[in-house]
Amino acid sequence: MIILLGSNKGGSGKTTLACNLAVSLAKDGGDVCLVDADRQGSASRWNLEREASGTQPAITLVQKYDNLSQTLQSLDGKYSHVLVDVAGRNSREMITAATVADLMIAPHQCSQLDLDTLGELQEQVVRVMDFNPSLRVLVYQTMASTNIQVIENERRDFKSYVGEFPEFIALKSSGRYRKIYRDVMSEGLSVLETSNKLAIEELTALYKEVFNG
Ligand SMILES: Nc1ncnc2c1ncn2[C@@H]1O[C@H](COP(=O)(O)OP(=O)(O)O)[C@@H](O)[C@H]1O
Ligand SMILES: [Mg+2]
Repeated sequence: MIILLGSNKGGSGKTTLACNLAVSLAKDGGDVCLVDADRQGSASRWNLEREASGTQPAITLVQKYDNLSQTLQSLDGKYSHVLVDVAGRNSREMITAATVADLMIAPHQCSQLDLDTLGELQEQVVRVMDFNPSLRVLVYQTMASTNIQVIENERRDFKSYVGEFPEFIALKSSGRYRKIYRDVMSEGLSVLETSNKLAIEELTALYKEVFNG
């Protein structure tokens, strides 16, 4: 199964989710390959830290740029799950990965700047679906407010905005803004490997919804 983390917005949490979900899958017995297709190499640096500290399960990481489709199809035959992290733009990597992916997880904050990029994503997805009609696009609300007074309103706005696009499915699970996500990235860890119960719960909810739901 090929899972692309994609959006047209940098800083929406794609790399963070790719690395955290890679560990979720590996801990659940999956044979995971993480493909770093962003020349900034953030996922690669995360995995180097993981290797240096000898953290288990180890994650296999491949760097590949430009046209990803053949590489991803060949990795798909060897691994149970291929997670692809791309740069946040209309990149060649994102489009070529989407043409062969089973799933695209598109993290977006509930901010006008993030949600404004959904229209562009829709145009790309419609074109890609000419080649890959079974692609499913799941939009994940990320870095949601932890302020109890705005959580519900923000969630309602997010769902109604995503609901305007028939190509997209809004995931029921959502992630909040939590410092732990920043801290684990520099240590090569997932939030699952910390004692932060709230972050563990929300990552587990996403994992179950996407992979066991
Ligand atoms: N849920 C979260 N809460 C707080 N900070 C987060 C969260 N997810 C990601 N971040 C931070 O936001 C920044 C952008 O995340 P990143 O995963 O690099 O996004 P992208 O790959 O889409 O550019 C990073 O500094 C990361 O540590
Ligand atoms: Mg990134």
